[in-house]
Amino acid sequence: MSSNDPNQGGPRAAWPAGRRPRVLVTQAVPQVALDLLQTFADVDANPDEGVIWSPDELRAHLPGHDGLYCLLTDTIDAAVMDALPELRVIANMAVGFNNVDVEEATRRGIAVTNTPGVLTDTTADFAWALLMAAARRVAEADRFTRAGKFHGWGPLMLLGGDVAGRTLGVVGFGRIGQALARRARGFAMPVLYYDLHPVDTALEQELHATFSSLDDLLAQADFVSLHVNYTPETHHLLSHAQFARMKRTAYVINTARGPVIDEAALAEALRTQQIAGAGLDVYEQEPAVHPGLLALENVVLAPHIASATIDTRNAMATMAAQNIQAVFANRRPPNLVNPAVWPAG
Ligand code: DGY
Repeated sequence: MSSNDPNQGGPRAAWPAGRRPRVLVTQAVPQVALDLLQTFADVDANPDEGVIWSPDELRAHLPGHDGLYCLLTDTIDAAVMDALPELRVIANMAVGFNNVDVEEATRRGIAVTNTPGVLTDTTADFAWALLMAAARRVAEADRFTRAGKFHGWGPLMLLGGDVAGRTLGVVGFGRIGQALARRARGFAMPVLYYDLHPVDTALEQELHATFSSLDDLLAQADFVSLHVNYTPETHHLLSHAQFARMKRTAYVINTARGPVIDEAALAEALRTQQIAGAGLDVYEQEPAVHPGLLALENVVLAPHIASATIDTRNAMATMAAQNIQAVFANRRPPNLVNPAVWPAG
């Protein structure tokens, strides 16, 4: 650690040995995180399970803390950072960190961390579950059965789309996109992928994946699954023009971030059967869901639970706490997303 000037984007002065930092945890999180944090810090935690502090409530709890353990539902912007002049680390318990103003944190010398890797398979499993559920109308069939509408096997009842052998289009070919492609191998599905750069040839061969433009992928894929970060560039990556390019028999899956899809355009494409269906775990105005989607049968709607298994949430919680622990031990946090505040080496 070298600089005391937060505006230089460099790390802050060393944390004094033996001094316990104060850490704020903004929601009820897995106990493993609290247990670890309490070994080196005084911890103030939102005790109410399922209660997300409003921005005003969050601001009221901020003063006096040196570390912040937050969730993707917390907006961590300049106003929050203004209330925390001593803040050294923002540890987001999520792989995505679009809820944090990273540029502002960097300017102030605050480390921002995330939880990559530990949720890859769990999230890909859930994307696959949504894909299967959308194609085979699983949620709709459950509603149908519970409503007492099942009066016997019927040759035309609840017909869906096939999965095996169809083409999977993966938009964003990072860890989770590749893990989805790996699952598609078991279903003998060719994979088209779109990203800024192609992956290496050996990986393409292993995953039977072919680099594609977004337009070609949309036109050819039977399933389009989104795995990009949410940035200004990916805002409404899929809107009216993109749905118009897709096959009428195609499905869209989103486990990334809601605003990557223009939700009103998707509701329209589903209502008019411009595409066959969708499986969504994330929403543009979370937790609100576009009313047009709620009215439709051909979309499976989940409440942002793709990483929600006991083991994975414990792993994410541990990782977030370890990142905070590293900062107050004057070590570079392992999952730093703004390396400028703590150059390696
Ligand atoms: C993330 O980590 O970004 C997911 O959306 C929640 O696990």
